[in-house]
Amino acid sequence: MNFNLTEEQLMIQTTAREFARDVLAPGVVERDEKKIWPKEGIKQMAELGFMGMMVDPKWDGGGMDAVSYTIAMEEISRVDASASVVMSVNNSLVCYLLEKFGSDFIKEKYLKPLARGEKLGAFSLSEPQSGSDASNMKTVAKKEGDYYIVNGTKNWVTNGITSDYVILMAITTTGVGHKGISAFLVEKGWDGFSEGKPENKLGIRASDTTELYFDSVKIPVENLIGEEGMGFKIALATLDGGRIGIAAQALGIAQASLDAAVEYSKERVQFGKPIGENQGIQFKIADMATEIECSRLLVRQAAFLKDQHKPFGHMSAMAKVYASETAMKASTNCVQIHGGYGYIRETGVERLMRDAKITQIYEGTSEIQRVVIARNALR
Ligand code: CAA
Repeated sequence: MNFNLTEEQLMIQTTAREFARDVLAPGVVERDEKKIWPKEGIKQMAELGFMGMMVDPKWDGGGMDAVSYTIAMEEISRVDASASVVMSVNNSLVCYLLEKFGSDFIKEKYLKPLARGEKLGAFSLSEPQSGSDASNMKTVAKKEGDYYIVNGTKNWVTNGITSDYVILMAITTTGVGHKGISAFLVEKGWDGFSEGKPENKLGIRASDTTELYFDSVKIPVENLIGEEGMGFKIALATLDGGRIGIAAQALGIAQASLDAAVEYSKERVQFGKPIGENQGIQFKIADMATEIECSRLLVRQAAFLKDQHKPFGHMSAMAKVYASETAMKASTNCVQIHGGYGYIRETGVERLMRDAKITQIYEGTSEIQRVVIARNALR
């Protein structure tokens, strides 16, 4: 792997960094506190081409590589992890899935506006009784003529409220386990399709997460993605890529924690000297810096393998588990270094700790990532 970023990747990094600083940073604490969706930020991200970064220009995307995507995700997550999860779901769970598995009809009708950022997508796999055990779902799609009739409930759907289009996994054949699951594209506003209340979350509070309800929703057969029975594999293959995005999000949160910790350690004076002159603080900073660098290498390696069309699922799992645990440790240490000031909202660093936690849970928990890594090692 070449560790040097290309001219284009450096430009994307600068653009994302300046955008995050100028557009997302103002009001980020208030948006988190009051659960205000970053509408203006997402609009401008679409204008910058960040909502369909890796999609082929043929389908109105940016045609960028996965490494560039992780660079933009890291920069945006350093400032606002709520905005970055909206971006991540649209790019790596929705656009990627449609481009790889959707028909030309689906790409023309749905992928293009999603890649342009004019429409927003969501991905619904989990149900109240099936999280890590994702194939244990109950939502059923029964074929009747030119339609599938869907009944069931999905939960933990990021962008569930703000999205226009939703990827849905549902059972089309019962009694055959994961081989009976199919993937569909559902439009908001269709009869019988409704959403629950926004969840009141610990972190990423400015993004929306909700339940989705399907009460005899009619999905036209042309909105089936791939073939019947392929839905579970489509979901897992998509999550392999999604996990690179979440790993990059965790990396951004960890980097923001280190930046804040370093700055405060230099300015905070106790016992007549900056606290950064104490080894107790220095060792924390050294560990944060080392683990962040390891996380970045793993994130870029996973993205690089994806760009090379090589197997990358085990590497994205490694990147996610390592970067998310680094984010949790780094943000906790950042609060610790800030002492009492770290524990109040206004300082802004306790949000990093709250936002970091979800990166160990969504798109596959740390435990599931270890299952994926171990299965690959033992195969
Ligand atoms: N890509 C494609 N196919 C895959 C695959 C992959 N990465 N991994 C496994 N498969 C295939 C297998 O080959 C197998 O196919 P065959 O039966 O034909 O051989 C099939 O899928 C089932 O595989 P497993 O028996 O290994 O499946 P499992 O039930 O044991 O589950 C798992 C494996 C890794 C635990 C998986 O269920 C998993 O990743 N669980 C976590 C789910 C998850 O990440 N959920 C997050 C939801 S999204 C979200 O967070 C919300 C949001 O809005 C952000």
